[in-house]
Amino acid sequence: MGTLFAIREINEAGGIDGRELQAIHHDPQCVPHHYRSLAARLVQQDKVNVIFGCYMSSTRKAVIPVVEKWQRLLMYPTLYEGFEFSRNVIYTGAAPNQNSAPLAAYMTRHFGPRVYMVGSDYIYPYESNRIMSDFVLERPGGVKLGERYVKLDASEADFAPIVRDIKAKQPDFVFSTVVGTGTRLLYEAYANAGLDSSRMPIASLTTCEAEVSEMGAAVAAGHFTSATYFQTIDREGNADVLTRFRAQFGTEDEPNMCWEAAYFQVHLFARAMLQSGSDEIDRLLPYLLGIEFEAPQGRVRIDASNHHTRLYPRIGRVDGQGRFVVCAESRCGVDPDPYLVNHASDDWSAPGVMLGEASG
Ligand code: ACM
Repeated sequence: MGTLFAIREINEAGGIDGRELQAIHHDPQCVPHHYRSLAARLVQQDKVNVIFGCYMSSTRKAVIPVVEKWQRLLMYPTLYEGFEFSRNVIYTGAAPNQNSAPLAAYMTRHFGPRVYMVGSDYIYPYESNRIMSDFVLERPGGVKLGERYVKLDASEADFAPIVRDIKAKQPDFVFSTVVGTGTRLLYEAYANAGLDSSRMPIASLTTCEAEVSEMGAAVAAGHFTSATYFQTIDREGNADVLTRFRAQFGTEDEPNMCWEAAYFQVHLFARAMLQSGSDEIDRLLPYLLGIEFEAPQGRVRIDASNHHTRLYPRIGRVDGQGRFVVCAESRCGVDPDPYLVNHASDDWSAPGVMLGEASG
């Protein structure tokens, strides 16, 4: 939806040098190998040069060989596990130094270093847990009390033994990398078991406005998410963008961090193409690398060396109305470090590094 919204805005403003953007969409139904075959169809039959999309990392990994083989570009708007580079991909979602590291610092500081991990059974949760383990285990007293995975189409029954185990082990917080419909089931099972989010919250990188709306405020309240965008961020321009989006697309879709990245990456592309005059990768990339845009989250910038994006880490906690209250946020844009080369998790733990964190 963020993609279509940006396309509409660009076309209403006259297109790219008078040329209208046309979206061609196929539905891969969340199946990675469909992503690969449909990406090939976009390239070979539809003659598409730039593909916008993919959510799960398994689907991005399915598309990369296609864009590399045919020298096309994928613009990927989802937070992911990092440790990847392709010349044929621009990554506009958060890398681990922009979401996992601040979340680890925040949760260990406010709740403690004893973590229990639960995730969906695919690459992003495995890798994300590996990274989170490093961040937590290096803290004094840091310990991992459990690491459990559920199928992508997990049912209520899959969560019952996990929640029982969490209740028995009493971690300081739970790190969830469950995605999709399982998210609601996990949080519901947690609430039904009487686990208290004010004392032992779930912390996530993927539970956002859409999932909270699905599970309801009573179930979601008190839990945390680390993201670079929330609907509630108090920033000039954000309220206007949301109002324009809802006027055009209604209120059914809940804008979240992927929506925002999907939105701003089309604008980045349009600006680069206006300058290059072409959407072919060799002509486009020199203009895309280093480009900046005033996005709803803040001024973003594509890093020329690693193709990821300068973003604004935030920690949100769900309130009683089901809204994310931003309880900490970076003072400035944070450059991506997808291989965690320059980053130390300690960067985030000093009081005052994140706004809202000074009082501890
Ligand atoms: C994800 O799979 N990158 C959320």
